Amino acid sequence: MKVAVVGATGMVGQVMLQVLGERDFPVDELIPVASKRSVGKSLAFRNATYRIHSIEEAIAKAPDLALFSAGGETSLEYAPKFAEAGTMVIDNSSAWRMDPVKKLIVPEINGETLTQEDKIIANPNCSTIQLVMVLNPLHKKYGIKRVVVSTYQSISGTGIKAMEQMQRERAGEKGEMAYPYPIDGNCLPHCDVFLENGYTKEEMKLTNETKKILADDTVLVSATAVRVPVSGGHSESVNIAFEKEIHTGDIRKLLSETAGVTVQDNVDLNVYPMPLMAKGKDDVFVGRIRRDLTQVNTLNVWIVADNLRKGAATNAVQIAELLVKKHLFNVSST
Ligand code: A2P
Repeated sequence: MKVAVVGATGMVGQVMLQVLGERDFPVDELIPVASKRSVGKSLAFRNATYRIHSIEEAIAKAPDLALFSAGGETSLEYAPKFAEAGTMVIDNSSAWRMDPVKKLIVPEINGETLTQEDKIIANPNCSTIQLVMVLNPLHKKYGIKRVVVSTYQSISGTGIKAMEQMQRERAGEKGEMAYPYPIDGNCLPHCDVFLENGYTKEEMKLTNETKKILADDTVLVSATAVRVPVSGGHSESVNIAFEKEIHTGDIRKLLSETAGVTVQDNVDLNVYPMPLMAKGKDDVFVGRIRRDLTQVNTLNVWIVADNLRKGAATNAVQIAELLVKKHLFNVSST
């Protein structure tokens, strides 16, 4: 297959290339795409070197697949142009996620809904993916009424500028700021921009995307998103109220049998998920599974995942793998 990675030099784009390489995705021709300042440079994939293309050059090559992670504006403008050229687009930005006719896919949850008509497929927000991976099996069994989630999000989700800000702060140097305040030694209750309702865009993504992926508007989600000085891996403290009676033993068993979820929950041995341990892994880790002692049929859990992998690149590549498995590509002769 001819595969374009749009935003190939970015934080997520780099991990997309890594995951594509690791998972033996059938790439016959790679077309790395970046902004004008990178065009003509080259990058390595598997054992070869590839020239970085402009987005227009990539469209002209009519790839079979384009993985996008170059920001919402680039997706809005160019994803339809790829789709017109017959390319299937998997987009990591928020541009298409809430579009009523575009699908928002986590393969383990709603991958079966994909059809050949889906030319632009949205990859959910990183914090949402790890949340719904745990919520989905619980919702099916116990019926979720309400979720209260607080996130502890790593700076890698913001991009290279944020990583550089923290490195400089740790070295005692001054420079360009990705955040309005120092991030080292700090917590910012501010991920993405503030909206009129007093929530941030990230918090509303958690609310709206969760409902869309679970295909249930009755699930209430209240979110607080916090940026913490962790270089990679998002954590979430989640309180979930259910319709039906719950048993923590059954919940542990159910989650341990859920594909893509690993239970790490043995407080006697200090076993619980942590971003340092989740880094570089594709699973979503869940622990601290315990009843909320203040309310019936309510649970507290702690969820951690590598935000650049399952939260972004791995989920996108898994969608592409599913398209291959379901024979949804009209593969060009290369
Ligand atoms: P470049 O490295 O040339 O700026 P991040 O999210 O880590 O900031 O990365 C954004 C990615 O999107 C980078 O690979 C960047 O390329 C790429 N990019 C930004 N704007 C465009 C554009 N208009 N066309 C193609 N790629 C773009």
